[in-house]
Amino acid sequence: MAKTIIKHLPEMAKARSRADSPRTFRNDIEPSPRLKEFAKGKKYLIKTFGCQANVRDEEIMAGMLEKAGFVKSPSEEEANLVIINTCAVRENAEEKVYGEIGKFKSNATKDPNFILCLCGCMMQEEGVAVKLREIYHHVSIVFGTHNIDKLLDMLDEKIATKKSLIDVLSFSGDIVENLPSTRLDSYKAYVNITYGCDKFCTYCIVPYTRGRERSRAKEDILKECKELVEQGYQEITLLGQNVNSYGKDFKNGTSFAGILEDVAKLGVPRLRFMTSHPWDFTDEMLDVIAKYPNIMKCIHLPVQSGNDEILRLMGRRYTREDYLSLVKKIRERMPECAITTDIIVGFPNETEEQFLDTLSLCKEVGYDAAFTFIYSPRKGTPAARIEDNVSPKDKHDRFNRLVKVVEEGVSSHSQKMVGKTYMVLVDGPSKKDSDVLSGYAENGKLIHFKGPVQLKGSIVPVKVTEDRTFSMFGELQIDPILFLAEKLRMAMDEEPLLKNYLAAKKAAEEDASLGKLRDEIESAQRAMMNLAASHEDEKFASKRKEYLSLMKEYESHPLILNLTSAKEELEPMLSLVAEALR
Ligand code: 5AD
Ligand code: SF4
Repeated sequence: MAKTIIKHLPEMAKARSRADSPRTFRNDIEPSPRLKEFAKGKKYLIKTFGCQANVRDEEIMAGMLEKAGFVKSPSEEEANLVIINTCAVRENAEEKVYGEIGKFKSNATKDPNFILCLCGCMMQEEGVAVKLREIYHHVSIVFGTHNIDKLLDMLDEKIATKKSLIDVLSFSGDIVENLPSTRLDSYKAYVNITYGCDKFCTYCIVPYTRGRERSRAKEDILKECKELVEQGYQEITLLGQNVNSYGKDFKNGTSFAGILEDVAKLGVPRLRFMTSHPWDFTDEMLDVIAKYPNIMKCIHLPVQSGNDEILRLMGRRYTREDYLSLVKKIRERMPECAITTDIIVGFPNETEEQFLDTLSLCKEVGYDAAFTFIYSPRKGTPAARIEDNVSPKDKHDRFNRLVKVVEEGVSSHSQKMVGKTYMVLVDGPSKKDSDVLSGYAENGKLIHFKGPVQLKGSIVPVKVTEDRTFSMFGELQIDPILFLAEKLRMAMDEEPLLKNYLAAKKAAEEDASLGKLRDEIESAQRAMMNLAASHEDEKFASKRKEYLSLMKEYESHPLILNLTSAKEELEPMLSLVAEALR
Protein backbone atom coordinates (compact mmCIF):
# COMPACT_ATOMS: atom_id res chain seq x y z
CA MET A 1 0.00 0.00 0.00
CA ALA A 2 1.63 3.22 -1.13
CA LYS A 3 1.77 6.22 1.17
CA THR A 4 0.53 4.31 4.25
CA ILE A 5 2.44 3.97 7.50
CA ILE A 6 1.42 0.73 9.21
CA LYS A 7 2.37 0.89 12.88
CA HIS A 8 0.40 -1.99 14.36
CA LEU A 9 -2.18 -4.41 12.98
CA PRO A 10 -4.67 -6.28 15.15
CA GLU A 11 -4.12 -9.95 15.98
CA MET A 12 -6.99 -12.04 17.36
CA ALA A 13 -4.59 -14.38 19.22
CA LYS A 14 -3.07 -11.43 21.08
CA ALA A 15 -6.50 -9.94 21.69
CA ARG A 16 -7.64 -13.22 23.22
CA SER A 17 -4.66 -13.46 25.58
CA ARG A 18 -4.93 -11.86 29.00
CA ALA A 19 -1.17 -11.89 29.58
CA ASP A 20 -0.43 -8.20 30.12
CA SER A 21 -1.88 -6.31 33.08
CA PRO A 22 -3.83 -3.12 32.49
CA ARG A 23 -2.38 0.15 33.78
CA THR A 24 -4.05 3.46 34.57
CA PHE A 25 -2.64 6.63 32.98
CA ARG A 26 -3.51 10.25 33.61
CA ASN A 27 -3.08 11.82 30.23
CA ASP A 28 -3.07 15.59 29.96
CA ILE A 29 -3.70 16.09 26.27
CA GLU A 30 -1.74 18.94 24.67
CA PRO A 31 -2.27 19.46 20.93
CA SER A 32 0.87 20.31 18.93
CA PRO A 33 1.17 23.88 17.53
CA ARG A 34 1.09 22.35 14.02
CA LEU A 35 -2.26 20.64 14.73
CA LYS A 36 -3.69 23.79 16.30
CA GLU A 37 -2.72 25.75 13.19
CA PHE A 38 -4.29 23.07 10.95
CA ALA A 39 -7.49 23.00 13.01
CA LYS A 40 -8.13 26.74 12.64
CA GLY A 41 -11.53 27.22 10.98
CA LYS A 42 -11.96 23.46 10.42
CA LYS A 43 -15.05 21.43 11.27
CA TYR A 44 -15.26 17.88 12.60
CA LEU A 45 -17.98 15.26 12.51
CA ILE A 46 -18.10 11.93 14.37
CA LYS A 47 -20.50 9.20 13.22
CA THR A 48 -20.97 6.57 15.87
CA PHE A 49 -22.44 3.08 15.48
CA GLY A 50 -23.11 0.50 18.16
CA CYS A 51 -23.37 0.64 21.90
CA GLN A 52 -23.04 3.27 24.64
CA ALA A 53 -19.33 2.49 25.04
CA ASN A 54 -18.86 3.86 21.53
CA VAL A 55 -21.03 6.89 22.34
CA ARG A 56 -18.81 7.66 25.32
CA ASP A 57 -15.70 7.25 23.09
CA GLU A 58 -17.26 9.76 20.69
CA GLU A 59 -17.60 12.28 23.51
CA ILE A 60 -13.96 11.86 24.43
CA MET A 61 -12.77 12.20 20.83
CA ALA A 62 -14.96 15.31 20.43
CA GLY A 63 -13.37 16.76 23.58
CA MET A 64 -9.88 16.20 22.22
CA LEU A 65 -10.69 17.64 18.79
CA GLU A 66 -12.25 20.74 20.34
CA LYS A 67 -9.16 21.17 22.50
CA ALA A 68 -7.11 21.27 19.29
CA GLY A 69 -9.44 23.95 17.88
CA PHE A 70 -11.79 22.02 15.58
CA VAL A 71 -15.47 22.95 15.84
CA LYS A 72 -18.45 20.64 15.40
CA SER A 73 -19.72 20.57 11.83
CA PRO A 74 -23.42 21.27 11.28
CA SER A 75 -23.51 18.96 8.24
CA GLU A 76 -21.66 16.13 6.53
CA GLU A 77 -20.90 18.29 3.49
CA GLU A 78 -19.12 20.97 5.51
CA ALA A 79 -16.96 18.57 7.54
CA ASN A 80 -13.18 18.79 7.08
CA LEU A 81 -12.47 15.94 9.48
CA VAL A 82 -14.73 12.90 9.81
CA ILE A 83 -14.39 10.00 12.23
CA ILE A 84 -16.46 6.86 11.65
CA ASN A 85 -16.69 5.06 14.98
CA THR A 86 -17.64 1.48 14.12
CA CYS A 87 -19.32 -1.52 15.77
CA ALA A 88 -18.47 -5.18 15.15
CA VAL A 89 -21.06 -7.00 17.21
CA ARG A 90 -23.10 -8.20 14.20
CA GLU A 91 -22.51 -8.25 10.47
CA ASN A 92 -25.26 -5.74 9.67
CA ALA A 93 -23.53 -3.14 11.87
CA GLU A 94 -20.44 -3.60 9.71
CA GLU A 95 -22.32 -3.37 6.44
CA LYS A 96 -23.57 0.11 7.31
CA VAL A 97 -19.98 1.30 7.65
CA TYR A 98 -19.08 0.62 4.01
CA GLY A 99 -21.81 2.97 2.82
CA GLU A 100 -20.68 5.63 5.29
CA ILE A 101 -17.08 5.52 4.11
CA GLY A 102 -18.19 5.86 0.49
CA LYS A 103 -20.32 8.88 1.33
CA PHE A 104 -17.31 11.00 2.28
CA LYS A 105 -15.50 10.51 -1.03
CA SER A 106 -16.91 13.83 -2.26
CA ASN A 107 -15.55 15.68 0.81
CA ALA A 108 -12.08 14.32 -0.05
CA THR A 109 -12.44 15.36 -3.71
CA LYS A 110 -13.47 18.91 -2.76
CA ASP A 111 -10.94 19.42 0.01
CA PRO A 112 -7.32 18.17 -0.45
CA ASN A 113 -6.76 18.46 3.32
CA PHE A 114 -9.87 16.41 4.21
CA ILE A 115 -9.18 13.73 6.82
CA LEU A 116 -11.26 10.56 7.20
CA CYS A 117 -10.58 8.39 10.27
CA LEU A 118 -11.98 4.93 10.97
CA CYS A 119 -11.97 3.63 14.51
CA GLY A 120 -13.94 1.45 16.94
CA CYS A 121 -14.53 -2.27 17.34
CA MET A 122 -14.66 -3.24 13.66
CA MET A 123 -11.09 -1.99 13.20
CA GLN A 124 -9.92 -4.41 15.91
CA GLU A 125 -10.75 -7.37 13.65
CA GLU A 126 -7.92 -8.97 11.70
CA GLY A 127 -7.65 -7.87 8.08
CA VAL A 128 -10.29 -5.11 8.21
CA ALA A 129 -8.00 -2.06 8.46
CA VAL A 130 -5.77 -2.96 5.53
CA LYS A 131 -8.72 -4.08 3.39
CA LEU A 132 -10.62 -0.84 3.93
CA ARG A 133 -7.57 1.32 3.24
CA GLU A 134 -6.96 -0.62 0.01
CA ILE A 135 -10.53 -0.20 -1.23
CA TYR A 136 -11.10 3.37 -0.06
CA HIS A 137 -8.15 5.60 -0.89
CA HIS A 138 -9.66 8.57 0.93
CA VAL A 139 -9.25 6.84 4.32
CA SER A 140 -6.51 8.75 6.18
CA ILE A 141 -6.18 7.14 9.62
CA VAL A 142 -7.31 3.80 11.03
CA PHE A 143 -7.05 3.24 14.76
CA GLY A 144 -8.71 0.98 17.31
CA THR A 145 -10.40 1.01 20.69
CA HIS A 146 -7.12 0.99 22.65
CA ASN A 147 -5.46 4.15 21.32
CA ILE A 148 -8.25 6.73 21.23
CA ASP A 149 -6.16 8.84 23.62
CA LYS A 150 -3.51 9.14 20.86
CA LEU A 151 -5.96 10.68 18.37
CA LEU A 152 -4.30 14.10 18.33
CA ASP A 153 -0.81 12.60 17.91
CA MET A 154 -2.05 10.51 14.98
CA LEU A 155 -3.63 13.56 13.34
CA ASP A 156 -0.40 15.51 13.83
CA GLU A 157 1.61 12.70 12.21
CA LYS A 158 -0.78 12.50 9.27
CA ILE A 159 -0.50 16.26 8.70
CA ALA A 160 3.31 16.20 8.98
CA THR A 161 3.95 13.16 6.78
CA LYS A 162 0.95 13.53 4.44
CA LYS A 163 0.78 9.73 4.60
CA SER A 164 -2.08 7.55 5.74
CA LEU A 165 -1.68 5.80 9.04
CA ILE A 166 -2.85 2.46 10.43
CA ASP A 167 -2.35 1.89 14.13
CA VAL A 168 -4.57 -0.78 15.72
CA LEU A 169 -3.27 -2.32 18.95
CA SER A 170 -4.27 -5.72 20.29
CA PHE A 171 -3.62 -6.09 23.99
CA SER A 172 -5.48 -6.27 27.27
CA GLY A 173 -5.93 -2.51 27.26
CA ASP A 174 -5.19 0.26 29.73
CA ILE A 175 -7.33 2.85 31.48
CA VAL A 176 -6.68 6.44 30.54
CA GLU A 177 -8.04 9.16 32.82
CA ASN A 178 -8.16 12.96 32.49
CA LEU A 179 -9.07 12.96 28.81
CA PRO A 180 -11.14 15.95 27.73
CA SER A 181 -14.73 15.23 26.81
CA THR A 182 -17.59 17.07 25.14
CA ARG A 183 -20.79 15.45 26.34
CA LEU A 184 -23.56 15.02 23.77
CA ASP A 185 -26.27 15.87 26.33
CA SER A 186 -26.35 18.45 29.10
CA TYR A 187 -28.80 16.56 31.33
CA LYS A 188 -28.00 12.85 30.99
CA ALA A 189 -24.59 11.25 30.95
CA TYR A 190 -22.82 7.94 30.60
CA VAL A 191 -20.01 7.12 33.00
CA ASN A 192 -17.73 4.16 32.31
CA ILE A 193 -17.08 1.98 35.33
CA THR A 194 -15.51 -1.02 33.60
CA TYR A 195 -13.93 -1.49 30.21
CA GLY A 196 -13.66 -4.71 28.19
CA CYS A 197 -15.09 -8.12 28.98
CA ASP A 198 -13.66 -11.41 30.22
CA LYS A 199 -16.80 -13.51 29.84
CA PHE A 200 -15.95 -14.78 26.34
CA CYS A 201 -19.50 -15.83 25.43
CA THR A 202 -18.78 -18.02 22.41
CA TYR A 203 -20.68 -15.88 19.88
CA CYS A 204 -19.34 -12.52 20.99
CA ILE A 205 -16.52 -10.43 19.52
CA VAL A 206 -16.41 -7.85 22.35
CA PRO A 207 -13.75 -9.53 24.54
CA TYR A 208 -11.44 -9.41 21.49
CA THR A 209 -12.24 -5.87 20.37
CA ARG A 210 -12.36 -4.15 23.76
CA GLY A 211 -9.86 -6.21 25.72
CA ARG A 212 -9.66 -7.36 29.27
CA GLU A 213 -12.30 -6.57 31.87
CA ARG A 214 -10.79 -3.71 33.88
CA SER A 215 -12.37 -1.45 36.48
CA ARG A 216 -11.85 2.28 36.85
CA ALA A 217 -10.67 3.45 40.26
CA LYS A 218 -13.56 4.29 42.57
CA GLU A 219 -12.18 7.81 43.18
CA ASP A 220 -12.12 8.56 39.42
CA ILE A 221 -15.73 7.38 38.98
CA LEU A 222 -16.97 9.34 41.99
CA LYS A 223 -15.10 12.49 40.90
CA GLU A 224 -16.70 12.32 37.44
CA CYS A 225 -20.20 11.67 38.88
CA LYS A 226 -19.84 14.44 41.48
CA GLU A 227 -18.94 16.93 38.78
CA LEU A 228 -21.98 15.85 36.75
CA VAL A 229 -24.27 16.30 39.76
CA GLU A 230 -22.80 19.76 40.41
CA GLN A 231 -23.40 20.67 36.77
CA GLY A 232 -27.08 19.79 37.18
CA TYR A 233 -27.15 16.49 35.29
CA GLN A 234 -30.47 14.70 35.89
CA GLU A 235 -29.43 11.18 34.97
CA ILE A 236 -26.24 9.14 35.12
CA THR A 237 -25.90 5.69 33.55
CA LEU A 238 -23.01 3.60 34.84
CA LEU A 239 -21.58 1.69 31.89
CA GLY A 240 -19.79 -1.59 31.47
CA GLN A 241 -20.12 -4.71 29.29
CA ASN A 242 -20.85 -6.42 32.58
CA VAL A 243 -21.21 -3.95 35.44
CA ASN A 244 -21.65 -6.76 38.03
CA SER A 245 -17.93 -7.54 37.68
CA TYR A 246 -16.93 -4.06 38.79
CA GLY A 247 -14.02 -4.12 41.24
CA LYS A 248 -13.33 -7.86 41.11
CA ASP A 249 -9.95 -7.12 39.50
CA PHE A 250 -8.90 -5.07 42.54
CA LYS A 251 -9.15 -8.24 44.66
CA ASN A 252 -9.94 -6.19 47.77
CA GLY A 253 -13.66 -6.75 48.16
CA THR A 254 -14.70 -3.79 45.98
CA SER A 255 -18.06 -4.59 44.39
CA PHE A 256 -20.58 -3.14 41.98
CA ALA A 257 -23.12 -2.83 44.79
CA GLY A 258 -20.61 -0.60 46.61
CA ILE A 259 -19.97 1.81 43.74
CA LEU A 260 -23.69 1.89 42.86
CA GLU A 261 -24.51 2.91 46.43
CA ASP A 262 -21.72 5.51 46.53
CA VAL A 263 -22.95 7.14 43.31
CA ALA A 264 -26.59 7.01 44.47
CA LYS A 265 -25.57 8.88 47.62
CA LEU A 266 -24.19 11.75 45.53
CA GLY A 267 -27.83 12.68 44.95
CA VAL A 268 -28.17 12.49 41.17
CA PRO A 269 -31.94 12.51 40.48
CA ARG A 270 -31.75 9.34 38.36
CA LEU A 271 -29.19 6.58 38.33
CA ARG A 272 -29.16 3.72 35.82
CA PHE A 273 -26.64 1.02 35.01
CA MET A 274 -26.02 -1.36 32.14
CA THR A 275 -25.37 -4.17 31.36
CA SER A 276 -25.86 -6.81 34.07
CA HIS A 277 -24.92 -10.41 33.45
CA PRO A 278 -27.40 -12.86 35.05
CA TRP A 279 -24.47 -15.00 36.24
CA ASP A 280 -23.03 -12.78 38.94
CA PHE A 281 -26.00 -10.67 39.97
CA THR A 282 -25.68 -10.55 43.77
CA ASP A 283 -28.24 -10.11 46.56
CA GLU A 284 -26.16 -7.15 47.71
CA MET A 285 -26.88 -5.48 44.34
CA LEU A 286 -30.61 -6.09 44.79
CA ASP A 287 -30.48 -4.56 48.29
CA VAL A 288 -28.88 -1.37 46.97
CA ILE A 289 -31.23 -1.05 43.98
CA ALA A 290 -34.25 -1.52 46.27
CA LYS A 291 -32.94 0.91 48.93
CA TYR A 292 -32.32 4.06 46.86
CA PRO A 293 -35.29 5.78 45.23
CA ASN A 294 -32.95 7.53 42.78
CA ILE A 295 -31.78 4.16 41.36
CA MET A 296 -34.23 3.46 38.56
CA LYS A 297 -36.10 0.21 38.94
CA CYS A 298 -35.21 -1.09 35.52
CA ILE A 299 -32.75 -3.94 34.99
CA HIS A 300 -31.35 -5.01 31.63
CA LEU A 301 -30.70 -8.71 32.02
CA PRO A 302 -29.70 -10.34 28.72
CA VAL A 303 -30.89 -13.96 28.62
CA GLN A 304 -29.76 -14.78 25.04
CA SER A 305 -31.59 -18.16 25.02
CA GLY A 306 -34.13 -20.11 27.07
CA ASN A 307 -32.55 -23.50 26.43
CA ASP A 308 -29.90 -24.99 28.71
CA GLU A 309 -27.90 -26.70 25.97
CA ILE A 310 -27.74 -23.52 23.87
CA LEU A 311 -26.82 -21.50 26.98
CA ARG A 312 -24.00 -24.00 27.60
CA LEU A 313 -22.78 -23.72 24.01
CA MET A 314 -22.96 -19.94 24.30
CA GLY A 315 -20.79 -20.12 27.43
CA ARG A 316 -23.30 -18.13 29.47
CA ARG A 317 -22.63 -19.91 32.84
CA TYR A 318 -26.26 -20.06 33.99
CA THR A 319 -29.23 -22.31 33.31
CA ARG A 320 -32.78 -21.40 32.39
CA GLU A 321 -33.77 -22.23 35.97
CA ASP A 322 -31.03 -19.98 37.43
CA TYR A 323 -32.25 -17.15 35.23
CA LEU A 324 -35.91 -17.60 36.09
CA SER A 325 -35.20 -17.75 39.81
CA LEU A 326 -33.22 -14.50 39.54
CA VAL A 327 -36.18 -12.86 37.78
CA LYS A 328 -38.48 -14.18 40.54
CA LYS A 329 -36.19 -12.79 43.23
CA ILE A 330 -36.09 -9.37 41.57
CA ARG A 331 -39.86 -9.27 41.24
CA GLU A 332 -40.50 -10.42 44.80
CA ARG A 333 -38.20 -7.71 46.06
CA MET A 334 -39.36 -4.95 43.66
CA PRO A 335 -42.68 -5.79 42.01
CA GLU A 336 -42.55 -2.58 39.94
CA CYS A 337 -39.07 -3.30 38.55
CA ALA A 338 -38.92 -3.44 34.75
CA ILE A 339 -36.86 -6.25 33.26
CA THR A 340 -35.49 -6.01 29.74
CA THR A 341 -33.30 -8.40 27.79
CA ASP A 342 -31.27 -9.36 24.71
CA ILE A 343 -32.10 -12.56 22.82
CA ILE A 344 -30.30 -14.31 19.99
CA VAL A 345 -32.15 -16.72 17.70
CA GLY A 346 -30.58 -19.14 15.28
CA PHE A 347 -27.43 -19.98 17.23
CA PRO A 348 -25.63 -22.70 15.21
CA ASN A 349 -27.76 -25.86 15.04
CA GLU A 350 -30.46 -24.49 17.35
CA THR A 351 -33.36 -26.93 17.01
CA GLU A 352 -37.03 -26.01 16.85
CA GLU A 353 -37.49 -27.45 20.38
CA GLN A 354 -34.60 -25.40 21.71
CA PHE A 355 -36.08 -22.30 20.11
CA LEU A 356 -39.46 -23.12 21.69
CA ASP A 357 -37.70 -23.03 25.07
CA THR A 358 -36.70 -19.43 24.33
CA LEU A 359 -40.28 -18.59 23.38
CA SER A 360 -41.66 -20.18 26.56
CA LEU A 361 -39.09 -18.35 28.70
CA CYS A 362 -40.12 -15.05 27.10
CA LYS A 363 -43.77 -15.80 27.84
CA GLU A 364 -42.95 -16.76 31.40
CA VAL A 365 -40.89 -13.64 32.13
CA GLY A 366 -43.00 -11.18 30.13
CA TYR A 367 -40.28 -8.64 29.37
CA ASP A 368 -40.83 -4.88 29.47
CA ALA A 369 -38.62 -4.66 26.38
CA ALA A 370 -36.33 -7.00 24.47
CA PHE A 371 -33.66 -6.52 21.83
CA THR A 372 -33.87 -9.48 19.50
CA PHE A 373 -31.12 -10.58 17.13
CA ILE A 374 -30.47 -13.23 14.53
CA TYR A 375 -27.16 -14.93 15.30
CA SER A 376 -24.37 -13.46 13.23
CA PRO A 377 -21.10 -15.44 13.05
CA ARG A 378 -18.12 -13.33 14.11
CA LYS A 379 -14.76 -14.43 12.70
CA GLY A 380 -12.36 -15.55 15.42
CA THR A 381 -15.05 -16.43 17.98
CA PRO A 382 -15.54 -20.11 18.96
CA ALA A 383 -19.15 -20.21 17.73
CA ALA A 384 -18.10 -19.10 14.25
CA ARG A 385 -16.19 -22.39 13.86
CA ILE A 386 -19.33 -24.50 14.41
CA GLU A 387 -20.83 -25.75 11.19
CA ASP A 388 -24.42 -24.52 11.11
CA ASN A 389 -27.31 -26.48 9.58
CA VAL A 390 -30.14 -24.03 10.34
CA SER A 391 -31.34 -22.38 7.14
CA PRO A 392 -31.54 -18.55 6.98
CA LYS A 393 -35.27 -18.97 6.27
CA ASP A 394 -35.78 -20.87 9.53
CA LYS A 395 -33.77 -18.28 11.41
CA HIS A 396 -35.91 -15.44 10.05
CA ASP A 397 -39.05 -17.37 10.76
CA ARG A 398 -37.99 -17.92 14.39
CA PHE A 399 -37.03 -14.29 14.68
CA ASN A 400 -40.49 -13.17 13.57
CA ARG A 401 -42.20 -15.57 15.97
CA LEU A 402 -40.00 -14.34 18.80
CA VAL A 403 -40.79 -10.69 18.06
CA LYS A 404 -44.52 -11.49 18.31
CA VAL A 405 -44.15 -13.17 21.70
CA VAL A 406 -41.96 -10.32 22.97
CA GLU A 407 -44.61 -7.85 21.80
CA GLU A 408 -47.32 -9.62 23.77
CA GLY A 409 -45.28 -9.33 26.97
CA VAL A 410 -44.35 -5.71 26.31
CA SER A 411 -47.96 -4.84 25.59
CA SER A 412 -49.26 -6.40 28.81
CA HIS A 413 -46.90 -4.15 30.79
CA SER A 414 -47.78 -1.09 28.72
CA GLN A 415 -51.52 -1.61 29.16
CA LYS A 416 -51.06 -1.57 32.92
CA MET A 417 -49.42 1.84 32.65
CA VAL A 418 -52.55 3.52 31.24
CA GLY A 419 -54.14 5.86 33.75
CA LYS A 420 -51.02 6.06 35.94
CA THR A 421 -48.68 9.02 36.24
CA TYR A 422 -44.93 8.61 35.63
CA MET A 423 -41.99 10.95 36.06
CA VAL A 424 -40.47 11.51 32.61
CA LEU A 425 -37.02 12.90 31.84
CA VAL A 426 -37.70 14.98 28.73
CA ASP A 427 -35.38 14.38 25.77
CA GLY A 428 -36.95 17.05 23.54
CA PRO A 429 -39.24 17.02 20.51
CA SER A 430 -40.14 13.57 19.24
CA LYS A 431 -38.43 12.34 16.06
CA LYS A 432 -41.75 11.93 14.23
CA ASP A 433 -43.67 15.02 15.38
CA SER A 434 -41.93 18.21 16.46
CA ASP A 435 -45.03 19.37 18.40
CA VAL A 436 -44.73 16.37 20.67
CA LEU A 437 -42.10 15.86 23.38
CA SER A 438 -40.55 12.49 24.22
CA GLY A 439 -38.81 11.12 27.23
CA TYR A 440 -38.28 8.05 29.34
CA ALA A 441 -40.15 7.09 32.49
CA GLU A 442 -38.34 5.57 35.48
CA ASN A 443 -39.11 2.07 34.11
CA GLY A 444 -37.45 2.84 30.77
CA LYS A 445 -40.70 3.25 28.77
CA LEU A 446 -40.76 5.91 26.10
CA ILE A 447 -43.62 8.38 26.66
CA HIS A 448 -44.79 11.05 24.20
CA PHE A 449 -46.81 14.09 25.29
CA LYS A 450 -47.57 17.67 24.27
CA GLY A 451 -45.53 20.39 25.95
CA PRO A 452 -43.10 23.25 25.29
CA VAL A 453 -39.60 22.40 24.08
CA GLN A 454 -38.12 24.34 27.04
CA LEU A 455 -38.97 21.32 29.21
CA LYS A 456 -36.06 19.42 27.60
CA GLY A 457 -33.78 18.12 30.37
CA SER A 458 -36.46 18.39 33.09
CA ILE A 459 -38.17 15.57 34.96
CA VAL A 460 -41.95 16.11 34.76
CA PRO A 461 -45.07 14.11 35.68
CA VAL A 462 -46.99 12.67 32.73
CA LYS A 463 -50.21 10.67 32.98
CA VAL A 464 -50.32 7.82 30.46
CA THR A 465 -53.48 7.99 28.38
CA GLU A 466 -52.77 5.62 25.50
CA ASP A 467 -50.72 2.46 25.02
CA ARG A 468 -48.94 2.08 21.69
CA THR A 469 -46.99 -1.06 22.80
CA PHE A 470 -43.41 0.19 22.32
CA SER A 471 -44.21 3.74 23.39
CA MET A 472 -46.95 5.47 25.33
CA PHE A 473 -48.92 8.65 24.88
CA GLY A 474 -49.69 10.87 27.84
CA GLU A 475 -50.67 14.24 29.27
CA LEU A 476 -48.41 16.60 31.14
CA GLN A 477 -49.62 16.95 34.74
CA ILE A 478 -48.16 20.40 35.50
CA ASP A 479 -48.47 23.95 34.17
CA PRO A 480 -45.23 24.17 32.17
CA ILE A 481 -44.95 27.96 32.58
CA LEU A 482 -45.14 27.83 36.36
CA PHE A 483 -42.78 24.85 36.39
CA LEU A 484 -40.18 26.64 34.27
CA ALA A 485 -40.51 29.87 36.28
CA GLU A 486 -39.91 27.93 39.50
CA LYS A 487 -36.94 26.15 37.92
CA LEU A 488 -35.50 29.51 36.89
CA ARG A 489 -36.01 30.88 40.40
CA MET A 490 -34.25 27.87 41.92
CA ALA A 491 -31.41 28.13 39.41
CA MET A 492 -31.06 31.83 40.22
CA ASP A 493 -30.90 31.01 43.94
CA GLU A 494 -28.02 28.67 43.21
CA GLU A 495 -26.29 30.97 40.74
CA PRO A 496 -22.81 31.75 42.19
CA LEU A 497 -22.65 35.23 40.59
CA LEU A 498 -26.01 36.15 42.09
CA LYS A 499 -25.01 34.72 45.45
CA ASN A 500 -21.80 36.78 45.29
CA TYR A 501 -23.77 39.96 44.48
CA LEU A 502 -26.25 39.40 47.31
CA ALA A 503 -23.41 38.81 49.78
CA ALA A 504 -21.58 41.97 48.63
CA LYS A 505 -24.82 43.97 48.93
CA LYS A 506 -25.50 42.68 52.43
CA ALA A 507 -21.94 43.47 53.56
CA ALA A 508 -22.22 47.03 52.20
CA GLU A 509 -25.63 47.57 53.83
CA GLU A 510 -24.56 46.29 57.23
CA ASP A 511 -21.20 48.06 57.50
CA ALA A 512 -21.34 50.79 60.20
CA SER A 513 -18.80 53.16 58.60
CA LEU A 514 -20.68 53.04 55.30
CA GLY A 515 -23.98 53.66 57.15
CA LYS A 516 -22.49 56.75 58.73
CA LEU A 517 -21.23 57.97 55.36
CA ARG A 518 -24.66 57.42 53.82
CA ASP A 519 -26.27 59.52 56.60
CA GLU A 520 -23.70 62.27 56.07
CA ILE A 521 -24.28 62.23 52.31
CA GLU A 522 -28.05 62.47 52.82
CA SER A 523 -27.79 65.40 55.23
CA ALA A 524 -25.34 67.19 52.88
CA GLN A 525 -27.88 66.69 50.05
CA ARG A 526 -30.68 68.14 52.18
CA ALA A 527 -28.53 71.13 53.21
CA MET A 528 -27.63 71.74 49.57
CA MET A 529 -31.33 71.81 48.59
CA ASN A 530 -32.13 74.34 51.35
CA LEU A 531 -29.15 76.55 50.44
CA ALA A 532 -30.10 76.44 46.77
CA ALA A 533 -33.66 77.51 47.65
CA SER A 534 -32.45 80.45 49.72
CA HIS A 535 -29.88 81.47 47.04
CA GLU A 536 -26.94 81.30 49.46
CA ASP A 537 -24.46 80.60 46.68
CA GLU A 538 -21.21 80.64 48.64
CA LYS A 539 -22.48 78.35 51.38
CA PHE A 540 -24.00 76.11 48.66
CA ALA A 541 -20.61 75.83 46.89
CA SER A 542 -18.84 74.85 50.10
CA LYS A 543 -21.57 72.26 50.98
CA ARG A 544 -21.32 70.83 47.48
CA LYS A 545 -17.56 70.42 47.92
CA GLU A 546 -18.19 68.59 51.18
CA TYR A 547 -20.83 66.42 49.45
CA LEU A 548 -18.51 65.49 46.56
CA SER A 549 -15.73 64.50 48.91
CA LEU A 550 -18.15 62.33 50.92
CA MET A 551 -19.32 60.70 47.69
CA LYS A 552 -15.73 60.02 46.63
CA GLU A 553 -15.00 58.46 49.99
CA TYR A 554 -18.16 56.33 49.69
CA GLU A 555 -17.47 55.14 46.15
CA SER A 556 -13.88 54.19 46.88
CA HIS A 557 -14.79 52.22 50.00
CA PRO A 558 -13.59 48.56 49.48
CA LEU A 559 -17.08 47.18 50.17
CA ILE A 560 -18.64 49.46 47.55
CA LEU A 561 -15.91 48.60 45.02
CA ASN A 562 -16.64 44.95 45.70
CA LEU A 563 -20.39 45.49 45.19
CA THR A 564 -19.81 47.36 41.91
CA SER A 565 -17.67 44.57 40.50
CA ALA A 566 -20.15 41.87 41.65
CA LYS A 567 -22.88 43.80 39.82
CA GLU A 568 -20.80 44.14 36.67
CA GLU A 569 -20.08 40.39 36.68
CA LEU A 570 -23.80 39.63 36.98
CA GLU A 571 -24.99 41.91 34.19
CA PRO A 572 -24.22 39.68 31.14
CA MET A 573 -26.15 36.83 32.78
CA LEU A 574 -29.13 39.07 33.52
CA SER A 575 -29.27 40.14 29.89
CA LEU A 576 -29.29 36.47 28.88
CA VAL A 577 -32.21 35.76 31.22
CA ALA A 578 -34.05 38.83 29.89
CA GLU A 579 -33.40 37.60 26.36
CA ALA A 580 -34.73 34.12 27.21
CA LEU A 581 -37.88 35.55 28.77
CA ARG A 582 -38.61 37.80 25.82
N1 5AD B 1 -24.85 -12.38 16.80
C1 5AD B 1 -26.03 -11.87 17.19
N2 5AD B 1 -26.19 -11.13 18.27
C2 5AD B 1 -25.09 -10.89 19.02
N3 5AD B 1 -24.94 -10.21 20.16
C3 5AD B 1 -23.65 -10.25 20.51
N4 5AD B 1 -22.96 -10.97 19.63
C4 5AD B 1 -23.84 -11.40 18.69
C5 5AD B 1 -23.72 -12.17 17.53
N5 5AD B 1 -22.57 -12.69 17.15
C6 5AD B 1 -26.05 -9.57 20.88
C7 5AD B 1 -26.21 -10.16 22.28
C8 5AD B 1 -25.71 -9.06 23.16
C9 5AD B 1 -26.07 -7.85 22.37
C10 5AD B 1 -25.36 -6.59 22.74
O1 5AD B 1 -25.78 -8.20 21.04
O2 5AD B 1 -27.58 -10.39 22.49
O3 5AD B 1 -26.28 -9.08 24.44
FE1 SF4 C 1 -20.15 -10.29 24.81
FE2 SF4 C 1 -20.82 -12.04 26.73
FE3 SF4 C 1 -19.10 -10.04 27.28
FE4 SF4 C 1 -21.69 -9.49 26.84
S1 SF4 C 1 -20.86 -10.72 28.53
S2 SF4 C 1 -19.90 -8.40 25.95
S3 SF4 C 1 -22.23 -10.99 25.28
S4 SF4 C 1 -18.76 -11.73 25.86
